[in-house]
Amino acid sequence: MRIALIHGQNHKGSTYHIGRMLAEKFENADIQEFFLPKDLNHFCMGCYKCIDSDKDCPFYDEKNQIMKSVENAELLIFTTPTYCMHASASMKAFIDLTFTYWMSHRPRKCMFSKKAVVISTAAGTGTKSAIKDITNTLFYWGVPYVKQYGISVQAMSWEQVAIGKKCKIEKDMEKMANSIKKGKVRVGIKTKFMFNIMRMMQIKGWGSGDAEKEYWRKSGWLDKERPWKHC
Ligand SMILES: Cc1cc2nc3c(=O)[nH]c(=O)nc-3n(C[C@H](O)[C@H](O)[C@H](O)COP(=O)(O)O)c2cc1C
Repeated sequence: MRIALIHGQNHKGSTYHIGRMLAEKFENADIQEFFLPKDLNHFCMGCYKCIDSDKDCPFYDEKNQIMKSVENAELLIFTTPTYCMHASASMKAFIDLTFTYWMSHRPRKCMFSKKAVVISTAAGTGTKSAIKDITNTLFYWGVPYVKQYGISVQAMSWEQVAIGKKCKIEKDMEKMANSIKKGKVRVGIKTKFMFNIMRMMQIKGWGSGDAEKEYWRKSGWLDKERPWKHC
């Protein structure tokens, strides 16, 4: 199993440990790990250079290191601590910097056959909305199989997490890994519906420009081809 593990934080706290624990449940997995902001220390500046070509993004080289791994992976694991009821700012910066991967722009065929997990911890509440920031992005990337795990750890570090809670997390991760191993990827009606709306937009010329429309045309999506076919 090829796994891309993307942490929305540089430090190795509770969220990191849970993500790592899950990844290590896959025997002989090839795990590529990234830390944000360490591995992509930028914010989108809104220059729109990426609209014509991803390579024109001023941060393309760093971003491409991560996205090459994402595109190559079978399983994506995202972790983020809950900060003010949402994903971390560095995770949000990553989401912004990859907006051309959305179905509204240039979705990648490979996304429509991937599995993903989003993990967040909070001291008390907010994991649901933190996780949603990322699951929403995965939906628009076209990833059809997304699991989530949020837990209130009542702690500021992994060391502070109560032993009983660590045992529960360990069991939950075992269960989640088994279910992912058995799980089948099926592109659902919601994804297909959204893709078709975006396709109509491209046909009508309501996309973000000629380069984008050409990408859709070349992919065959303006005709009968669909990204989930032959996956
Ligand atoms: C800037 C900041 C904002 C936070 N916001 C929340 C919050 O909205 N809700 C909450 O329950 N905990 C909040 N916390 C606590 C963390 O979510 C919690 O300690 C989490 O488990 C930290 O994960 P880590 O050990 O991976 O860093 C916040 C912590 C920080 C530093």
